[in-house]
Amino acid sequence: MSGRFSLTQLGRTALGPVSARADESRRPDRLFDDRLAAAFVHATGSESFLFAENERARLLRAMGDYLAIRTRFFDDYLRQACRQGCRQVVLVAAGLDTRSFRLRLPVGVRVFELDRSDVLDFKEKVLADEAPTPSCQRIVLRTDLADDWTRDLQTAGFRPAEPTAWLVEGLLVYLDGRVTDDLFAALTELSADGSRAGIDDSGAALLRSDAMRAELGDSPPAGITGYSHTVPVRDRLAEHGWRHVIDHDIADLAVRYGRPPPAAFPPSRATTDARGGLVLAER
Ligand SMILES: C[S@@+](CC[C@H](N)C(=O)[O-])C[C@H]1O[C@@H](n2cnc3c(N)ncnc32)[C@H](O)[C@@H]1O
Repeated sequence: MSGRFSLTQLGRTALGPVSARADESRRPDRLFDDRLAAAFVHATGSESFLFAENERARLLRAMGDYLAIRTRFFDDYLRQACRQGCRQVVLVAAGLDTRSFRLRLPVGVRVFELDRSDVLDFKEKVLADEAPTPSCQRIVLRTDLADDWTRDLQTAGFRPAEPTAWLVEGLLVYLDGRVTDDLFAALTELSADGSRAGIDDSGAALLRSDAMRAELGDSPPAGITGYSHTVPVRDRLAEHGWRHVIDHDIADLAVRYGRPPPAAFPPSRATTDARGGLVLAER
């Protein structure tokens, strides 16, 4: 670690997706351009990563394409949700997400970036050096989903009566059962008509896939507690009364974006029990 930052083990999980976004942004055929991602990776230094450097390479080999497709898919989702009237976006567990800067959102959109203090302290320090200009009103909210985060969100200016676009990306596998249940209940409670949700179902099944085990072995990466996360996201949303719930298969999305199926999702898994889809729903 560079010494300037102190990410917790849980906070370091944000470095996986941002590494993938930095790699993707260097490709000539990139699916998006996240210019700030490399600054975050650079600021950490190699030893502060969740895994040792060789494990980072293995993680990205197994998951890099998946993370790139996921990023692009949720970029498209958020742009569309805002075009369709959402003027509030909540990035739940935003990590080092830079959509507040990258996406050209309509005038007046407010983006809440919610995460734990260690991650957001790190993020704000790096952003202070880079000094990018957000394309929206950006609200940085340090809170913990295990605490009263809905109160904190409303204190920060969130308006439950207005339609919201929620994004829950790369999070569920880190949450225990109670926090997960509370999260789905809160998203529903705080969603006015016209709200939308985007949530990835990257639970245990993905991490147990043959490709992931071949790269990472049988034990879960540090910080992952969600092996008990067993109810598919689409079913949870439907139980809570969300409409138009669609679970987008990663192999199909790879075709849409002109990529081979990501290593963690060989085509043979793209059937019934293959979890890991990207779920969209409307309120
Ligand atoms: C793998 S990262 C994903 C970050 C971001 N959504 C992305 O895709 O780049 C997981 C994030 O969840 C956050 N997180 C995990 N448990 C949390 C909790 N109880 N409250 C708030 N944030 C949490 C971590 O701090 C981390 O930033």
